[in-house]
Amino acid sequence: MKVLFVDACVRKDSRTRTLCQAYMDACWGGQGTEIKKRELAQEPLVPLNRERLEQRDRDIAAGRFSLEKYRYAREFAEAEEILVGAPYWDCSFPALLKLYLEQVCVNGIVFSYGEDGRPVKTNACRKLVYITTAGGYLGENSSLESYWKELCGLFCIPQLQIYKGEGLDIQGNDPQNILENCKNAMINVSR
Ligand SMILES: Cc1cc2nc3c(=O)[nH]c(=O)nc-3n(C[C@H](O)[C@H](O)[C@H](O)COP(=O)(O)O)c2cc1C
Repeated sequence: MKVLFVDACVRKDSRTRTLCQAYMDACWGGQGTEIKKRELAQEPLVPLNRERLEQRDRDIAAGRFSLEKYRYAREFAEAEEILVGAPYWDCSFPALLKLYLEQVCVNGIVFSYGEDGRPVKTNACRKLVYITTAGGYLGENSSLESYWKELCGLFCIPQLQIYKGEGLDIQGNDPQNILENCKNAMINVSR
Protein backbone atom coordinates (compact mmCIF):
# COMPACT_ATOMS: atom_id res chain seq x y z
CA MET A 1 0.00 0.00 0.00
CA LYS A 2 1.30 3.48 -0.89
CA VAL A 3 0.79 6.09 1.82
CA LEU A 4 1.76 9.73 2.21
CA PHE A 5 2.61 11.72 5.34
CA VAL A 6 2.27 15.46 4.85
CA ASP A 7 4.18 17.00 7.74
CA ALA A 8 3.12 20.62 8.22
CA CYS A 9 4.55 20.79 11.74
CA VAL A 10 6.94 23.69 12.12
CA ARG A 11 8.44 23.39 15.61
CA LYS A 12 11.38 21.06 16.18
CA ASP A 13 9.69 19.36 19.11
CA SER A 14 6.22 19.50 17.63
CA ARG A 15 3.61 17.66 19.67
CA THR A 16 1.47 17.25 16.58
CA ARG A 17 4.31 15.38 14.91
CA THR A 18 4.58 13.10 17.97
CA LEU A 19 0.93 12.15 17.48
CA CYS A 20 1.52 11.60 13.76
CA GLN A 21 4.41 9.28 14.56
CA ALA A 22 2.22 7.31 16.95
CA TYR A 23 -0.43 7.00 14.23
CA MET A 24 2.12 5.78 11.68
CA ASP A 25 3.61 3.28 14.14
CA ALA A 26 0.16 1.90 14.92
CA CYS A 27 -1.35 1.92 11.43
CA TRP A 28 1.46 1.93 8.91
CA GLY A 29 3.92 -0.35 10.62
CA GLY A 30 3.00 -3.42 8.57
CA GLN A 31 5.07 -4.95 5.81
CA GLY A 32 4.34 -3.80 2.32
CA THR A 33 3.50 -0.21 3.28
CA GLU A 34 5.48 2.25 1.21
CA ILE A 35 5.62 5.52 3.15
CA LYS A 36 6.41 8.80 1.42
CA LYS A 37 7.04 11.76 3.73
CA ARG A 38 6.94 15.42 2.80
CA GLU A 39 8.21 17.77 5.49
CA LEU A 40 6.78 21.03 4.23
CA ALA A 41 9.20 23.26 6.14
CA GLN A 42 11.95 21.77 3.93
CA GLU A 43 10.10 22.21 0.64
CA PRO A 44 10.53 25.16 -1.76
CA LEU A 45 6.85 26.16 -1.58
CA VAL A 46 5.74 29.46 -3.10
CA PRO A 47 2.26 30.91 -3.64
CA LEU A 48 0.57 30.78 -7.02
CA ASN A 49 1.13 34.26 -8.45
CA ARG A 50 -0.35 35.44 -11.74
CA GLU A 51 2.49 34.10 -13.86
CA ARG A 52 2.54 30.66 -12.21
CA LEU A 53 -1.25 30.42 -12.35
CA GLU A 54 -1.35 31.24 -16.07
CA GLN A 55 1.37 28.68 -16.75
CA ARG A 56 -0.56 26.10 -14.75
CA ASP A 57 -3.76 26.85 -16.69
CA ARG A 58 -1.84 26.22 -19.91
CA ASP A 59 -0.46 22.93 -18.53
CA ILE A 60 -3.96 21.82 -17.48
CA ALA A 61 -5.39 22.69 -20.91
CA ALA A 62 -2.63 20.65 -22.56
CA GLY A 63 -2.74 17.84 -19.97
CA ARG A 64 1.00 18.41 -19.54
CA PHE A 65 1.96 17.47 -15.98
CA SER A 66 5.70 16.97 -15.66
CA LEU A 67 6.85 14.85 -12.76
CA GLU A 68 9.15 17.58 -11.46
CA LYS A 69 6.70 20.48 -11.56
CA TYR A 70 3.64 18.52 -10.46
CA ARG A 71 5.31 16.17 -8.01
CA TYR A 72 3.15 17.19 -5.02
CA ALA A 73 -0.12 16.64 -6.88
CA ARG A 74 1.05 13.40 -8.48
CA GLU A 75 2.24 11.94 -5.18
CA PHE A 76 -0.98 12.97 -3.50
CA ALA A 77 -3.03 11.33 -6.26
CA GLU A 78 -1.09 8.07 -6.00
CA ALA A 79 -1.37 7.58 -2.24
CA GLU A 80 -4.02 5.18 -0.96
CA GLU A 81 -4.00 6.75 2.49
CA ILE A 82 -2.87 10.24 3.44
CA LEU A 83 -1.94 11.58 6.86
CA VAL A 84 -1.77 15.34 7.28
CA GLY A 85 -0.29 16.66 10.53
CA ALA A 86 -0.52 20.37 11.30
CA PRO A 87 -0.68 22.43 14.49
CA TYR A 88 -3.73 24.60 15.05
CA TRP A 89 -2.57 28.09 14.14
CA ASP A 90 -4.80 31.16 14.03
CA CYS A 91 -7.94 29.00 14.05
CA SER A 92 -6.58 27.09 11.07
CA PHE A 93 -3.18 25.70 10.10
CA PRO A 94 0.24 27.08 9.08
CA ALA A 95 0.36 28.92 5.74
CA LEU A 96 2.92 26.35 4.59
CA LEU A 97 0.13 23.81 4.33
CA LYS A 98 -2.03 26.15 2.26
CA LEU A 99 0.90 26.69 -0.12
CA TYR A 100 1.25 22.93 -0.42
CA LEU A 101 -2.48 22.45 -1.05
CA GLU A 102 -2.36 25.04 -3.83
CA GLN A 103 0.18 22.79 -5.52
CA VAL A 104 -1.91 19.68 -4.88
CA CYS A 105 -5.32 20.91 -6.05
CA VAL A 106 -4.67 20.44 -9.74
CA ASN A 107 -7.69 19.77 -11.91
CA GLY A 108 -6.72 16.78 -14.02
CA ILE A 109 -4.40 15.17 -11.47
CA VAL A 110 -6.07 14.96 -8.06
CA PHE A 111 -9.63 15.57 -9.22
CA SER A 112 -11.59 16.60 -12.25
CA TYR A 113 -15.17 17.57 -13.04
CA GLY A 114 -17.70 15.45 -14.90
CA GLU A 115 -20.10 16.78 -17.50
CA ASP A 116 -22.69 17.23 -14.77
CA GLY A 117 -20.29 19.58 -12.95
CA ARG A 118 -19.66 17.17 -10.13
CA PRO A 119 -16.16 16.18 -8.99
CA VAL A 120 -14.81 12.96 -10.46
CA LYS A 121 -12.29 10.88 -8.55
CA THR A 122 -8.88 10.75 -10.20
CA ASN A 123 -6.86 9.77 -7.12
CA ALA A 124 -6.28 6.52 -5.24
CA CYS A 125 -6.94 7.80 -1.73
CA ARG A 126 -9.51 5.93 0.34
CA LYS A 127 -8.83 7.63 3.67
CA LEU A 128 -7.45 10.98 4.81
CA VAL A 129 -6.40 11.37 8.43
CA TYR A 130 -5.88 14.87 9.80
CA ILE A 131 -4.08 15.32 13.11
CA THR A 132 -3.79 18.61 14.95
CA THR A 133 -2.97 19.90 18.39
CA ALA A 134 -4.22 23.17 19.82
CA GLY A 135 -3.20 25.40 22.69
CA GLY A 136 -6.87 26.03 23.43
CA TYR A 137 -10.00 24.39 22.05
CA LEU A 138 -11.41 24.32 18.54
CA GLY A 139 -14.71 26.17 18.46
CA GLU A 140 -17.97 24.27 18.13
CA ASN A 141 -18.34 25.45 14.53
CA SER A 142 -14.68 25.31 13.69
CA SER A 143 -14.11 26.03 10.01
CA LEU A 144 -11.08 23.74 10.10
CA GLU A 145 -13.20 20.62 10.21
CA SER A 146 -15.64 21.78 7.53
CA TYR A 147 -12.67 22.77 5.36
CA TRP A 148 -11.26 19.23 5.40
CA LYS A 149 -14.72 17.78 4.83
CA GLU A 150 -15.19 19.98 1.79
CA LEU A 151 -11.74 19.20 0.42
CA CYS A 152 -12.32 15.44 0.79
CA GLY A 153 -15.64 15.96 -1.02
CA LEU A 154 -13.87 17.67 -3.91
CA PHE A 155 -11.28 14.89 -4.06
CA CYS A 156 -13.94 12.18 -3.62
CA ILE A 157 -12.03 10.72 -0.67
CA PRO A 158 -14.65 8.59 1.09
CA GLN A 159 -13.25 8.57 4.62
CA LEU A 160 -12.01 11.50 6.70
CA GLN A 161 -10.78 11.01 10.25
CA ILE A 162 -9.77 14.01 12.37
CA TYR A 163 -7.84 13.68 15.64
CA LYS A 164 -7.35 16.65 17.95
CA GLY A 165 -5.23 17.11 21.04
CA GLU A 166 -6.75 20.23 22.57
CA GLY A 167 -6.10 22.51 25.50
CA LEU A 168 -2.36 21.82 25.57
CA ASP A 169 -1.34 25.36 26.52
CA ILE A 170 -4.01 25.97 29.14
CA GLN A 171 -2.67 26.46 32.62
CA GLY A 172 -3.63 23.59 34.89
CA ASN A 173 -4.07 21.10 32.02
CA ASP A 174 -1.77 18.12 31.75
CA PRO A 175 -0.49 18.13 28.13
CA GLN A 176 1.16 14.70 28.43
CA ASN A 177 -2.10 13.18 29.58
CA ILE A 178 -4.05 14.87 26.76
CA LEU A 179 -1.56 13.58 24.19
CA GLU A 180 -1.70 10.05 25.64
CA ASN A 181 -5.51 10.06 25.46
CA CYS A 182 -5.35 11.21 21.88
CA LYS A 183 -2.84 8.47 21.00
CA ASN A 184 -5.04 5.85 22.64
CA ALA A 185 -8.09 7.08 20.72
CA MET A 186 -6.17 6.77 17.44
CA ILE A 187 -4.86 3.32 18.24
CA ASN A 188 -8.28 2.04 19.33
CA VAL A 189 -9.88 3.22 16.10
CA SER A 190 -7.12 1.58 14.06
CA ARG A 191 -7.75 -1.83 15.71
C1 LIG B 1 1.68 30.96 15.32
C2 LIG B 1 0.81 30.23 16.33
C3 LIG B 1 -0.56 30.38 16.26
C4 LIG B 1 -1.39 29.71 17.18
N1 LIG B 1 -2.75 29.87 17.09
C5 LIG B 1 -3.54 29.20 17.95
C6 LIG B 1 -4.97 29.32 17.86
O1 LIG B 1 -5.53 30.02 17.03
N2 LIG B 1 -5.73 28.63 18.74
C7 LIG B 1 -5.18 27.80 19.70
O2 LIG B 1 -5.92 27.17 20.44
N3 LIG B 1 -3.83 27.65 19.79
C8 LIG B 1 -3.01 28.32 18.94
N4 LIG B 1 -1.64 28.19 19.04
C9 LIG B 1 -1.08 27.20 19.99
C10 LIG B 1 -0.80 25.86 19.28
O3 LIG B 1 -1.96 25.39 18.64
C11 LIG B 1 -0.35 24.76 20.25
O4 LIG B 1 0.74 25.17 21.04
C12 LIG B 1 0.00 23.48 19.47
O5 LIG B 1 0.03 22.39 20.35
C13 LIG B 1 1.32 23.61 18.77
O6 LIG B 1 1.59 22.40 18.12
P1 LIG B 1 3.07 21.83 17.98
O7 LIG B 1 3.54 21.41 19.35
O8 LIG B 1 2.89 20.66 17.07
O9 LIG B 1 3.90 22.90 17.38
C14 LIG B 1 -0.81 28.85 18.16
C15 LIG B 1 0.58 28.72 18.22
C16 LIG B 1 1.39 29.39 17.31
C17 LIG B 1 2.90 29.23 17.39
